Amino acid sequence: MTTTKMPTSTPLVEVQNISKYFGQVIALKDISMRVGAGEVMCLLGDNGAGKSTLIKTLSGVHGHDEGKMLIDGEEVRFNSPREALDRGIATVFQDLAMIPLMGISRNFFLGREPTKGFGPFKRYDSAHADRVTREALKGMGIDIRDPSQPVGTLSGGERQSVAIARAVHFGAKVLILDEPTSALGVKQAAVVLRYIARTKEQGLGVIFITHNVHHAYPIADRFTILKRGRSYGTFEKSDVTREEVASMMAGGEDLENLSSELAEFERTDREEAKDRHDGKRRTRET
Ligand SMILES: Nc1ncnc2c1ncn2[C@@H]1O[C@H](COP(=O)(O)OP(=O)(O)OP(=O)(O)O)[C@@H](O)[C@H]1O
Ligand SMILES: [Mg+2]
Repeated sequence: MTTTKMPTSTPLVEVQNISKYFGQVIALKDISMRVGAGEVMCLLGDNGAGKSTLIKTLSGVHGHDEGKMLIDGEEVRFNSPREALDRGIATVFQDLAMIPLMGISRNFFLGREPTKGFGPFKRYDSAHADRVTREALKGMGIDIRDPSQPVGTLSGGERQSVAIARAVHFGAKVLILDEPTSALGVKQAAVVLRYIARTKEQGLGVIFITHNVHHAYPIADRFTILKRGRSYGTFEKSDVTREEVASMMAGGEDLENLSSELAEFERTDREEAKDRHDGKRRTRET
């Protein structure tokens, strides 16, 4: 099946030639990328490539030193994560910022607790929080038995899903996920990936960071590959195979060298085995 995509309208988020320095360290140099509504954009790259630095720039944690950042086509500069959040950019960091001993709904509303009553009678409205949490998760295909169940008792995949549902519920337009599947087994990663696909269907733009091509490939519309702070390129999924993405990520040359080294090992192994075999035969013959 081929899907020809219309040229996308104004991206939700776009960076143009962004650079970021930490003293002498060039964390990012001349990076450009964009994500539109209903798109999953995958940010790939090896350790230290600059992935986290790039999304921290987008989410208001760091300022950028060069280049432009545009939200809905308008140039912005964030001075805090709050400002990014107010423009609809929600980031789910790897540590998730959840409190394990508190219940799911308590965590869902963390920092935005609903209240009932007035003045001195004002208190946390747990019934409301429980109901909304249950509905929001159900909307994403996750049935929770008890909204007051401690988050610490959920699986890693479920916890990621709660964090994503929370961002979506509170009005994110762009969802940034920093390695949400890296610590998960195959089944749980699938839960989270399916969930990301739902988020995309709801019209959000998703920036998905991962090391794992097998997680990225099924749900991405576009890949941007970072390498030591620089962009190795941006590719539409229709233009590249999974193997090509994997090889670009690992650094094509490195992998080719590795495979020729492995071939060399194999050859010497084979020869040694043959020598041993021949040696044995010779001893038997004599
Ligand atoms: N606050 C900081 N101060 C100084 N150097 C930093 C800082 N944050 C990141 N760096 C450097 O910037 C480079 C990019 O780091 P970054 O964390 O963005 O990589 P990454 O692609 O997210 O890697 P990983 O896959 O390991 O998470 C690294 O060389 C790192 O040491
Ligand atoms: Mg990182």
